[in-house]
Amino acid sequence: MHFTARAHTNIALLKYWGKVDTEIITPTTTSISLTLDEFYTDTTVWFDEKLNADQFVLDNETVTGHAMQKVSRFLDIVRQQAGIQTYASVISTNHVPTAAGLASSASAFAALAGAASKAAGLDLTLTELSRLARHGSGSATRSIFGGFAQWTPGNDLTSVGSPLVSDVDWPIQLMTVVINDQPKKVGSRAGMQHAMETSPFYDLWVNTANQQVNAMIKAIQNHDLNTIGQIAESNALQMHATNTTAVPPFNYLTDKSWEVILIAQQLRQQGIPVYATMDAGPNVKLISNPCDTETIKNALLSVVSEDKIINAHPGPEIKISAGDIIC
Ligand code: DP6
Repeated sequence: MHFTARAHTNIALLKYWGKVDTEIITPTTTSISLTLDEFYTDTTVWFDEKLNADQFVLDNETVTGHAMQKVSRFLDIVRQQAGIQTYASVISTNHVPTAAGLASSASAFAALAGAASKAAGLDLTLTELSRLARHGSGSATRSIFGGFAQWTPGNDLTSVGSPLVSDVDWPIQLMTVVINDQPKKVGSRAGMQHAMETSPFYDLWVNTANQQVNAMIKAIQNHDLNTIGQIAESNALQMHATNTTAVPPFNYLTDKSWEVILIAQQLRQQGIPVYATMDAGPNVKLISNPCDTETIKNALLSVVSEDKIINAHPGPEIKISAGDIIC
């Protein structure tokens, strides 16, 4: 049987940046994210007795090497859970605006978990899917759910994602300001490990991040955009501070990233709620109210052209259906 899953990417408002267990991927902190409508991955999987190895086609190109190995190792976990040995064919399409530079392992492994588990004959709950997706990539744990989701530390059984608010019925958006769409020099997996092992600020970041959890949950429940934004921006800046204080240091943010962060600060002085968050790359994501889109865009035009500003809103949970196409 062919099964297809659509999983949306998510942006962390409280970041995951470091692992307690690198083998099964459990985090040092609780992370909280917003799943986005605009960016998603569609993945079709079928297990085929005729195959003598797994196959993986991404955006119409056959994948080999390290990326293929990662997918095969993930499929091994699915095979083990399902008690089968058959190889699989995986076909994935990333629906991310070409210039976004946002290609993310979050939607990729969430969609793979959904399609592969079903195709292998498993019928997993969303929590079980989240646990499975975590074995592929930490941030994928949260992409199973729509809206606001959290992922807590714990053991293999307990470190799973859960929905905070699945259907977000109040105005919040995330504007991605594309600074650079080239693959990053230091990937998130290596970056977080290096910061954790060498930054003298790392433990401080973990303590502060864990203290931000309850305040963030309360702000989400209160639809309090300003508090959500304040906590998210401070959490992101502290995460990046663990990188610039690592030994040797590394840095994802460029002068242009800082220009955008400063524009957000200036807009706030004019009373417009807009806050920045940045991941393992120079692009800046602005948390804001949709009614301020034009004002924010106009302010950003001094740094980037309009086509580099991509707007997204809260997105849905994973969807899995039989066949090759998601309907
Ligand atoms: C900065 O989920 O890509 O986006 O678990 O090693 O695959 P691995 O890392 P990954 O890291 C994401 C880091 C982040 C913050 C976040 O999404 O929470």
